[in-house]
Amino acid sequence: MDNIKVAILGIGTVGTGTYKIIKNQKDEFPYKTGSNIEVSKILVRDKSKKREGIDENLITDSWEDIINDDSISIVIEVMGGIEPAKTYITEALKKGKSVVTANKDLIASYGGELLDLAKENKCDILFEAAVAGGIPIIRPLKECLASNKVEEVMGIVNGTTNFILSKMTDEGMEFDEALKLAQKLGYAEADPTADVEGYDAGRKIAIMASIAFNSRVKFDDVYTEGISNISAKDIKYAKELDCEIKLLGVASNTDDGIEARVHPMLIPNDHPLSGVKDSFNAVFVKGDSVGDTMFYGKGAGELPTASAIVGDVIDVARNIHFGCCGRIGCTCYKNLPIKTIDDIYSKYFVRLQIVDKSGVLASVLSVLGKNDVSIYQLMQKKKRDNNFAEIVLVTDKVKEKNLRDSIKELEDMPVVHKVSKVIRVY
Ligand code: NAP
Ligand code: HSE
Repeated sequence: MDNIKVAILGIGTVGTGTYKIIKNQKDEFPYKTGSNIEVSKILVRDKSKKREGIDENLITDSWEDIINDDSISIVIEVMGGIEPAKTYITEALKKGKSVVTANKDLIASYGGELLDLAKENKCDILFEAAVAGGIPIIRPLKECLASNKVEEVMGIVNGTTNFILSKMTDEGMEFDEALKLAQKLGYAEADPTADVEGYDAGRKIAIMASIAFNSRVKFDDVYTEGISNISAKDIKYAKELDCEIKLLGVASNTDDGIEARVHPMLIPNDHPLSGVKDSFNAVFVKGDSVGDTMFYGKGAGELPTASAIVGDVIDVARNIHFGCCGRIGCTCYKNLPIKTIDDIYSKYFVRLQIVDKSGVLASVLSVLGKNDVSIYQLMQKKKRDNNFAEIVLVTDKVKEKNLRDSIKELEDMPVVHKVSKVIRVY
């Protein structure tokens, strides 16, 4: 029986979950992989810190202890951030050690070069946990759905913002109140920027789009817009249109290039993603043969995320046992163009305040018409505010550049007091 030794880099939330699952599954590994799997070293920054339930003999604060230990064949990186994670992973791969990581920041920007390095060294680098935590999505895209031309991947891939929007929708909270609650309950971090501004979801969309469309999409290629300017009023009006507002990641493989974006979106109540509540995640994949598929579950947390990590460890252990590491490496064999946000087509919800006088609405509509922005739905709210009338309109599917040009023109019109909000509509 082989003994596969693994090192865990970082023993925080995901590292602790990983350690627990490897311990609990110990007796199952020989049947599942043909090998025993054990944690032989854990890298920390501060050795003096008390860590409940962790064997102190495994703790080291020296990376050299791990990289120079030839008995370690799998390195699990769960420290997060770009450096030193990138250096450690690079060194591990160069030494022939396979890597399992949850690090979306790193994979979304440097995935291509790390996968190439893994291939050169006949190793695996697996990252199922980096997208939607415990939900299987990387392996389904790379393997189970490999027979498809994937047309679209769309989803709710950030639990923190989904929790905040759920509270705003179901309990009428404003953004700041819902964010405070999310922080109190441990969903949102003290600095919530990466979640609320859509960067976390943008990294996940970059990774999924690269795999789904077999063409590299980096985080910088993804247009991101967060939820911090969504108000309870927007949500109330969305409800009147039979919609919910969700932070959606959307990646589409169109004839003239890849679209990859993260932004709030009105989604009809009868769409399955509108029912994804609280901190849950869900990913929709549309393939040319399979049609619509949906993956749903917990996108974060100690054990759900560690479930994906240990699943990857088991995969590597099987590859080691059968001598086939590097079996499935980089799948980006195309080089498709990536569209800018100006070139996408969408429906839009626009909320604006205009001077309450005859002819003003007609002048607003004429600006939209001139820019080829067609109206799908239009309402004037009953309550007038300081002599301004509030108009809410939904456009047909139009080019984003045309919509932006019209908004710019509207903002310059003396009869338009304010364009209060523009949100895309599914
Ligand atoms: P965490 O709780 O902050 O844990 C990170 C751990 O790594 C901390 O214990 C930290 O030590 C340690 N660390 C940082 N730099 C180190 C270094 N140079 N040397 C040794 N140890 C170091 O973070 P986490 O939530 O477990 O997240 C880990 C990774 O998983 C991140 O890439 C994250 O994006 C990803 N992820 C997390 C979740 C989730 O639900 N939490 C879900 C999906 C993916 P200190 O205690 O000294 O700071
Ligand atoms: N911060 C992320 C979320 C979890 O709220 O979903 C880690 O990817």
